[in-house]
Amino acid sequence: MWNNQNLHMQRGKFIVFEGIDGSGKTTLSKMLAQELAQNGPRVHWTCEPTHNVIGKMIRSVLTHQLEMNEQSIAALYLADRMDHIQHPDYGMLHQLNAGDHVISDRYYLSSYAYHVPHVSLDWVVDANSIAANVLRPDVIFFIDIDVQTSMDRIARFRTGVDLFENEERITLVHANYQRAIEKIRHEENIVVIDGRKALDEVYAEVKRVADGVFK
Ligand code: TYD
Repeated sequence: MWNNQNLHMQRGKFIVFEGIDGSGKTTLSKMLAQELAQNGPRVHWTCEPTHNVIGKMIRSVLTHQLEMNEQSIAALYLADRMDHIQHPDYGMLHQLNAGDHVISDRYYLSSYAYHVPHVSLDWVVDANSIAANVLRPDVIFFIDIDVQTSMDRIARFRTGVDLFENEERITLVHANYQRAIEKIRHEENIVVIDGRKALDEVYAEVKRVADGVFK
């Protein structure tokens, strides 16, 4: 039932963080969520792939428990995203319409970066327009680091990774991000942040832009 409170309720803000491995997007997005939560409205930190039913299926593919071709995987990420947006209980739209803020670690820009060339950039952008038309971020932070910085950070913080295989993949994903950003920058509010500096400095930059979104 409608009530006056709902009519005047301001929709929450939807903020997305993107970047290659080691960019710091997860840490930065959690820092922002934590700081915003101190100022009043509820803040939901979330991520894609999700931890919901379809997201779990994707994680089984990522850990090689389930085998699937790349086009099906691309479609699965989209299905996970639509469920993430629209589910009546945990859906982001529902939370935003209730006035809560939502911060997501990855959204459709990740699909543009990770699924090409298994599918074309045009296809993946077109397919994801179903998500973009329902829920466009108020801002997408692209935390930009170069491939070498990514490799150095992975080598420092992770064990058991095949660095050679990683470098090839990270180089491709990095180039795909640049190409995708160029393609969609007129439709999206994308803010590129230099992620190579110290965490505090990078966060200060994120916070400065986020403050503008909340004005
Ligand atoms: P994530 O959990 O962010 O892992 P990491 O912190 O190691 O980057 O993402 C898991 C993987 O899913 C990552 O390799 C990127 C990939 N991915 C896609 O391929 N397409 C998508 O649409 C999304 C959201 C993620």
